[in-house]
Amino acid sequence: MRVALLGSGRGSNAEAILRAKQNGQLDRVDIVGIFCDNPHAPLLKLGPRFGIPAFYLDPGPFKTKFSPEQESIWANTLLSQQVDLVVLAGFMRVIKTPLLDAFKDKIINIHPSLLPQFPGLDGIGQTWRAGSNEGGCTVHWVTDEVDSGQHLGQTRVLRENSDTLETFAEKIHAAEHVLLPKVIAELSIL
Ligand code: GRF
Repeated sequence: MRVALLGSGRGSNAEAILRAKQNGQLDRVDIVGIFCDNPHAPLLKLGPRFGIPAFYLDPGPFKTKFSPEQESIWANTLLSQQVDLVVLAGFMRVIKTPLLDAFKDKIINIHPSLLPQFPGLDGIGQTWRAGSNEGGCTVHWVTDEVDSGQHLGQTRVLRENSDTLETFAEKIHAAEHVLLPKVIAELSIL
């Protein structure tokens, strides 16, 4: 299964996937590259570290969506790499046509909340501020509605009395780093 990682920032989820690959947990997966919409993202440094191509691709002038022209370029770039699965690993931009059409039922996303609760920006902060006694993360198929596709996996994280927003967030991120490689491994053996 040829997998493309799309991200925008820190890259801890992409790193977890690359480590899982190194550790032999993703034997049937080829990571073809990291595709990033932010030229300053720390994520880009993972390329040389893990020996895979990592590059910035212009998303166009908008903050949270692609321009139609640039989205076509992203779609064609991924198609030319014969990508079987697109993984949104901290990709902070909504996916619409033509990317969604080019990779129908082939794009997954990780979101830091127990969807359908708290979709959209800052899933952890939303969970925290709502006073929920648990949060977590969800991997789901990407559809044209944000954070709404069918779930592929979910991990619950308890909020303890001793937690601060920071420790709660750390636990949720740690859960993400286990869940996302696990779901990719499961998809690769279907
Ligand atoms: C993660 O919490 C992910 O769930 C959300 O954005 C964050 C990205 O973190 N979509 P990173 O870039 O993978 O470290």
